[in-house]
Amino acid sequence: MSTLSTFPQYTPTSVEVTTARSAPASCDVVGWAIGTAGPVPRQIGLNRAALKAEGFTGAIGQTLVVPRADGPTMVAVGIGDADALDANRLRRAAAAFVRSVSTRASVATNLVEVAADHGVDVAAAAQATVEGVLLAAYRYVGLKNEAGNANALRTLILICGAPRVKAAEAGAVTGVVTARAGRLARDLANTPPAYLTARRMADIAVEVAGQKGLGVEVFNRDQLEAMGCGGIVGVNQASAEPPRMVKLTYKPSRPTGHLAMVGKGVMYDSGGISLKPSDAFHQVMKMDMSGAAAVLCAMSTLAELKCRTQVTAYLMCTDNMPSGNAMKLGDVLTIRNGKTVEIHNTDAEGRLILADGLSLAVEDQPDAIVDIATLTGAALAALGPEIAAVLGTNQKFITQVEASADRTEEPVWNLPLERDRYRKLLDSVVADMKNIGGPFAGTITASIFLSEFVGDIPWAHLDIAGPMKSDGDDGVWSKGATGFGTRLLIDLARNFAPVS
Ligand code: BES
Ligand code: MN
Ligand code: ZN
Repeated sequence: MSTLSTFPQYTPTSVEVTTARSAPASCDVVGWAIGTAGPVPRQIGLNRAALKAEGFTGAIGQTLVVPRADGPTMVAVGIGDADALDANRLRRAAAAFVRSVSTRASVATNLVEVAADHGVDVAAAAQATVEGVLLAAYRYVGLKNEAGNANALRTLILICGAPRVKAAEAGAVTGVVTARAGRLARDLANTPPAYLTARRMADIAVEVAGQKGLGVEVFNRDQLEAMGCGGIVGVNQASAEPPRMVKLTYKPSRPTGHLAMVGKGVMYDSGGISLKPSDAFHQVMKMDMSGAAAVLCAMSTLAELKCRTQVTAYLMCTDNMPSGNAMKLGDVLTIRNGKTVEIHNTDAEGRLILADGLSLAVEDQPDAIVDIATLTGAALAALGPEIAAVLGTNQKFITQVEASADRTEEPVWNLPLERDRYRKLLDSVVADMKNIGGPFAGTITASIFLSEFVGDIPWAHLDIAGPMKSDGDDGVWSKGATGFGTRLLIDLARNFAPVS
C-alpha cells in the first residue's frame, strides 16, 4: 500500500511487527500488562502499592510510564480484570499503551502473552493488540511540513513464548492488514475535498485494485446516464467535477456466499441549493465519502485475508454542489431500477446515489447487500458520535452485522425500519416517493427510502454519520476521520453466511 504513488496525502504504515521470546534490550519501551489484581511484573521495578501511589490501578486505558536511567522505559499497561480480558479490551489497552509513548520508535509488550494466559485465543489477541497499536498511532500527516507531527512508531514487538509464536504471527499479520485498511480509510476521509475528487477516488480505487487483486470497472457521467443512474447523475449535475462509480469485485475459487457492498461517496456535501446552514456542518462534509472509503479499504484486504466470500462493491462518488444547473425542489429523478423520486431537499442526496448503487447490486443477485453511509444527522442525534445505526430487511443478516460490530468494537444499534408505519411519510403527489420524510425519525425514513431499491435481497444499512469522525484521541480513534466500519465490513465479509 505504500506505493499509492498518485496519492501524496497517504500515510504509509511503515511499522514493522515482529515477535520475540523476551523484551529485546535494544527496544525503547516495554509495556507490561497489569490487571487490577494479580501479580506485578518485577521488570516494572515497582510493587502494587507503589503503582497505586502513582494513581495506577490497572484499569483498562490506564498506563504508567516508568523511565529508567539505562535500558528501555517500562510502562505499566492496565488490562482491568485479567480473567475478563477479551480481544476488545486488549485492543483498548494496546491503544492506551502506544499513546503513552508516542515519541518512541521501538516498542515491545507482553499483552498477547498475558491475554493468552487468561484464555484469549492467541491469534485473536495478537490481531487486537496490533490493531490497537497501529490505529491509535495513526496521524494524518499528508499536508504537514513538519514531520514531527507524525507518530514515531517504527517497530512493534509482541513478546510471547515459543509455543504461541506461530499463532501470534498469523494474528499479527491479520491485524496489520485490517489496521492498514482502517488507516487508509482515515487518510481518504481526512483529505481535503479539492485533493480527493470523485475522479481521484476512482484513480485510487483502480490503483488499490491492481495491488490487491480485485477486479475494477470505473463508470463516468455519460455511462451512468446511459445506464439510467438518474440519482447520481442528478446529484452531480450542479458540480464542476464529474461523478464516478467504481465497481470492485473479489471472487475466490469456490466462494461460500456472495455479498454486495455499496458505499456513499459524497466527496463534499454542501447541501446543494438546500445549502447547509453553518460552517460547522460544511467543515466536516469532506468526510461524506467515509462510507465509500470504508468499502474500498475493506475490499483491499480480502485477498490477503483469503476471504471465502465473493464480494461485489459499488462506490458511488460525486460531490453535492449548488449552481445554476442544480436540481430544483420539485424536480423528479428516475433511479436505475425505474422508480421515480421527487426532490424535496437537495441535501438528502446520499439516498439518491445509494438508490442507484443498491439497484445495481440487486441485479448481481448477491445473497445479501450491506450499504454504509454518512446518511443522516438524525443518526448522530439519536446515537451520538460513537455508535452507528443499523437498519434492514432481514433480521438474521442484521444479527451478522451486529456480531461483526461486537468483534471489531465498531458499535451499532438496530433501529426499526417500520415500513408499514412510516412509508407514507415519503408519499409524493407526482412521483413514486419524495426524497425526505419530514422532521422526525430521519434515520428511519432515509432507510425506508433505501429499502425501495433492494428488492427481496436481504439487506442491512449502516448509518455512520455519528462515528465517521472523532473529536479527540480516544482509544483506537484519533482526532479526525475514524475510518469507522472498515474493520466491521472486513469481519462481515470473512464471516458471512447466506441467510434465508
Ligand atoms: N451528509 C449528510 C448527513 C450528515 C450530517 C453526516 C452530519 C454527518 C454529519 C446528509 O447528506 C444530509 O445532509 N442529511 C440531511 C437529510 C435531511 C435533509 C433529510 C440531514 O441529516 O440533515
Ligand atoms: Mn446532504
Ligand atoms: Zn451527505
